[in-house]
Amino acid sequence: MLPTIAQALAAVRFDAVDVRVLLRHACGVDDAYLIAHADDKLSAEHSAAFAALVARRAAGEPVAYIVGTREFFSLEFKVTPAVLIPRPETELLVEFALESIDVERACSVLDLGTGSGCIAISIAKNCPGAKVVAIEQSAAALAIARENAALHATVNLELIASDWYSALGGRRFDVIVANPPYVAAGDPHLSEGDLPAEPVAALVAGDDGLDCIRAIVQAAPRYLNPDGWLAIEHGYDQAERCRELLRAAGFHEVFSREDLAGIERISGGQWRAS
Ligand SMILES: C[S@@+](CC[C@H](N)C(=O)[O-])C[C@H]1O[C@@H](n2cnc3c(N)ncnc32)[C@H](O)[C@@H]1O
Repeated sequence: MLPTIAQALAAVRFDAVDVRVLLRHACGVDDAYLIAHADDKLSAEHSAAFAALVARRAAGEPVAYIVGTREFFSLEFKVTPAVLIPRPETELLVEFALESIDVERACSVLDLGTGSGCIAISIAKNCPGAKVVAIEQSAAALAIARENAALHATVNLELIASDWYSALGGRRFDVIVANPPYVAAGDPHLSEGDLPAEPVAALVAGDDGLDCIRAIVQAAPRYLNPDGWLAIEHGYDQAERCRELLRAAGFHEVFSREDLAGIERISGGQWRAS
């Protein structure tokens, strides 16, 4: 016998949000429809489609890769296994950039390791006066970022293939943001949650997880305008070491900010030419 929408949702023991996302995708409807039609029976076609999606999730495939999208900063982004799945805590970097941008003048922003483009596109859409540049080393990821930029008709964004700053020549920016790989090789978290399905190059950064952060912080002064800001996302236990790296590189006003879980999640500082 075919289940109702409410029965189908209750029968699957995954995270409740994930189950709703899968059922919405299988039926091609939105959340309001699921609520309004909770007692409607699923069609045989939708029931089979939902069962197939649930089987993929049960086999370890992340929900975002199954449905092909993830919301970030209230925008929908295309995601594939070529890119990291955007995380809610990364919105802190966007908030920081939007606060740091001087809207009175044409401000320039650089996003390092843009992946899906979620940070750069969110900044560009929320601050049309800013000139945003985003770089990425992975050609496959850069192609997804380009698709997302087109999807959101982002005109004030330039996407560049680059190994960190290498393709930027002498360009300087008012704000640099980065969510680089920061997991230590061999960290047991790599086998948990969605991480086994995500690109290793988006996650792992050397034996202590700080290789990319070190490279980004040390070179940042050559790419920042005077009084420009750098902010970097890092692991739950890396804030203190990031602050040390920032101070050692000559940054002022060094800070860390907590995410909604109370974990220090981004650190940064201001560059002053002296
Ligand atoms: C943690 S993911 C972040 C993706 C996206 N910014 C986000 O927040 O969802 C790190 C990104 O940095 C890219 N990356 C890794 N090494 C790089 C390098 N040397 N130069 C440029 N990008 C790099 C990876 O391909 C990946 O897309």
